[in-house]
Amino acid sequence: MINDYISDAIEIISKNDRGGYTIPTSKLYPYQWNWDSAFTALGLSTFNRWRAWIEISTLLDGQWNNGMLPNIIFRQNDPDYFPGPEEWLSKTEPPSSGHSQPPVLASVVWQLVRRGTRYDIDRAQKVFGSLLNYHRWFIEARDPNKTGVLSVIHPWESGRDNSPEWDDAMDNISINNTLKGYNRRDTSHVADNQRPTKKQYDRFMTIVYFGRDNNWDDKTIFDNGPFLVADPGVHFIMLRANRDLLSLATQLGRKDDAIEVKAWIQHLENGAQKLWNPEIKSFCARDMRTGRFSGGVSSASLLCFYADIGTEEQKSSMSDHCQRIFKACKYGVPSWDPENNEFDSKRYWRGPVWSVVNYLVYRGFKSAGLNSFAEKIRHDTLRLFEISGAAEYYDPNTAEGLGGSDFTWTAAIYLELSKSRIPTQLIKHF
Ligand code: GLC
Repeated sequence: MINDYISDAIEIISKNDRGGYTIPTSKLYPYQWNWDSAFTALGLSTFNRWRAWIEISTLLDGQWNNGMLPNIIFRQNDPDYFPGPEEWLSKTEPPSSGHSQPPVLASVVWQLVRRGTRYDIDRAQKVFGSLLNYHRWFIEARDPNKTGVLSVIHPWESGRDNSPEWDDAMDNISINNTLKGYNRRDTSHVADNQRPTKKQYDRFMTIVYFGRDNNWDDKTIFDNGPFLVADPGVHFIMLRANRDLLSLATQLGRKDDAIEVKAWIQHLENGAQKLWNPEIKSFCARDMRTGRFSGGVSSASLLCFYADIGTEEQKSSMSDHCQRIFKACKYGVPSWDPENNEFDSKRYWRGPVWSVVNYLVYRGFKSAGLNSFAEKIRHDTLRLFEISGAAEYYDPNTAEGLGGSDFTWTAAIYLELSKSRIPTQLIKHF
């Protein structure tokens, strides 16, 4: 049985392979996505390390000269997806979107090296400079005033597109008057009640057009863009990615680079306190235009353990939140607090469980020694796949598979979390 699930997962990833890069799923997401590809490389590495490194290298093909790694790389024009390359006008080759996504890539590279051989070390040497440039860009472009906290300029940059974290900031956006009756494609592939609303989409597009009309100039977007919110997800993922990049720099003997990365870590450690909301006793997002907190506990709040952030008191309060949240639904981790009014068990990032976030939360629990939480999350993640297949996300109460199906990163995380059980005959040697 287990072997069947593992073969299914491998088959899904192979089916979504477009020759050197993997799409998240056909129709709904027909291009290469940033953090999807990083997680895909992790899953691939469990059975084909050669192909895993190719995924990383095609992702880095999309890197801009300033170091930015876009959230989508468009290698062809696909009518199934909106907004495509002609809406973003990146003027890059290959064309891409104009902002980034959670920077998990360095952590994936470190994982590959940690459990790999000389082969992986050689490949890591080749990509190290690009990872460093990517992090430098992120820290400079998304915190130019050196406050120590990282913001996102679009909800899509957070990877958690319609999370209630962004609701207040989104309400303050005036819709671009030139926005014509554009044609969303996502709702022709997935039921409306599982996707963002029209009101949200109008604002998503308003932010895209602001960036495009300002030639994706980071400074203008940061200072005057319609949306600027400090994101615990991106902040904690970048902090951990820097810790992993530091381990990599040390392993590769890059002393000067290690000094630069250490300074970033210190800076982000200090800044993390700006995300602590004393009212709800949790880390959460904060609108940088108004200073207001989002006011709810999301799955990204729990990534404080992954980043190793918080005083003893804060950690204990976060662990109480976990206990409460895990009791309130059957499968963890819901993307939004089930006891909060905005919770919606089927709508995208407003409640459903996502395997990739589960993986990061699981790693965080492990490093913090919260072993029973870690085991619960690992177990739930595997079960959801076994019950409902490789769905894009799942209902935390019923395990129903939602959104796209045959989803690459869900399959990749299944492989990563069942690693020790992958039969040797399925592993490709080279
Ligand atoms: C959605 C998700 C985003 C993901 C993308 C492709 O936009 O919100 O995090 O990268 O789909 O799977």
